[in-house]
Amino acid sequence: MRIGNVQLETPLIQAPMAGFSGYAFREMIRLCGGCGLTTTEMVNARSFIQIEKNLRHSPPRLWGIPTETRPVAVQIWDNVPENLAEVGRVLAQIWNVSVVDINFGCPSPTVAQRSQSGSYLLDFPDQVEKIVRLTVEACAPTPVTVKMRLGTKPNRITACEVAQAAESAGAAAVYVHGRTAAQGYSGTANWDEIAKVKAVLKNIPLVGNGDIRTVDDALNRLNNYPVDGIMIGRGCLGKPWIFRDIALAMGLTVESEIADANRLELVRRHFELTLESLNERDAVVNMRKIVCRYADGMPNSHDFRNAIAKVETKAEFLSLCEQFFTETTAF
Ligand SMILES: Cc1cc2nc3c(=O)[nH]c(=O)nc-3n(C[C@H](O)[C@H](O)[C@H](O)COP(=O)(O)O)c2cc1C
Repeated sequence: MRIGNVQLETPLIQAPMAGFSGYAFREMIRLCGGCGLTTTEMVNARSFIQIEKNLRHSPPRLWGIPTETRPVAVQIWDNVPENLAEVGRVLAQIWNVSVVDINFGCPSPTVAQRSQSGSYLLDFPDQVEKIVRLTVEACAPTPVTVKMRLGTKPNRITACEVAQAAESAGAAAVYVHGRTAAQGYSGTANWDEIAKVKAVLKNIPLVGNGDIRTVDDALNRLNNYPVDGIMIGRGCLGKPWIFRDIALAMGLTVESEIADANRLELVRRHFELTLESLNERDAVVNMRKIVCRYADGMPNSHDFRNAIAKVETKAEFLSLCEQFFTETTAF
């Protein structure tokens, strides 16, 4: 799959996830292999401009981006076209990110209601078009993508209009999460609605997103829906190897630097990578929630969760992980 001038090795994309898809997470996914594109969590364009102006350094949410392995996408949100274009320009022209992604899907009150951004804009395809056009001009030739939900609510499904607006403004791909904003994460993602978007796109890829948790889910969506690629969010939390498993099941060749690692080794590596950007205390706090995802579905994970919530130091963290994860394998 191609996104503008970026050729992806696989049509499998890691979804942006606030609080999770930081540098260490993206690096773990790259090390496992199989993922065509990793993505940062969303960053507000206005605050990016403030931070750059006042502090002359990048927002903490973008730690790693200037130097980490490409391809990598940075997701930004706002409702002022000039803010998004200005940040897109810095990301594309100075930081050389591979893809600039704009968020038109976030339903959180802070983003959608208070800031009239994210999913709020799904009711305003004209504004989407304006935002995308200005950002595309500022980023060229770096591709700009659009991530959206189906619409704001069940009786306001606007994905087709928004996707058309985005393509005509120069977007290089659209990612559609098959829920409305009003749904939050309840119910299931509606892939039939995602599929309808394909019919209105002329040249750019459609990437479907929502509820892909297993290799079978991924193959099912790729084989039965008219999507060019799939995006995975919660399904890769604590499972950075899922992209590799899917790519192998698709018959693709995958390079993996840690193919034989067991789950404990992956957790250790994830922790070491986290320590590159955070001090010990903050890294432990950050890893508490991440390691619980690695423990999902394992026997006694409930007790492990309770215990890990109390650890304070690197030594305590590793010792508890060593007791819990021994004997288990990742793949
Ligand atoms: C913890 C969490 C944080 C998220 N943060 C973002 C975000 O920053 N930007 C965004 O576009 N979507 C965000 N999402 C939505 C996901 O990208 C994705 O669209 C959604 O989870 C559905 O896909 P999934 O079923 O594969 O998880 C977030 C989802 C979760 C669970």
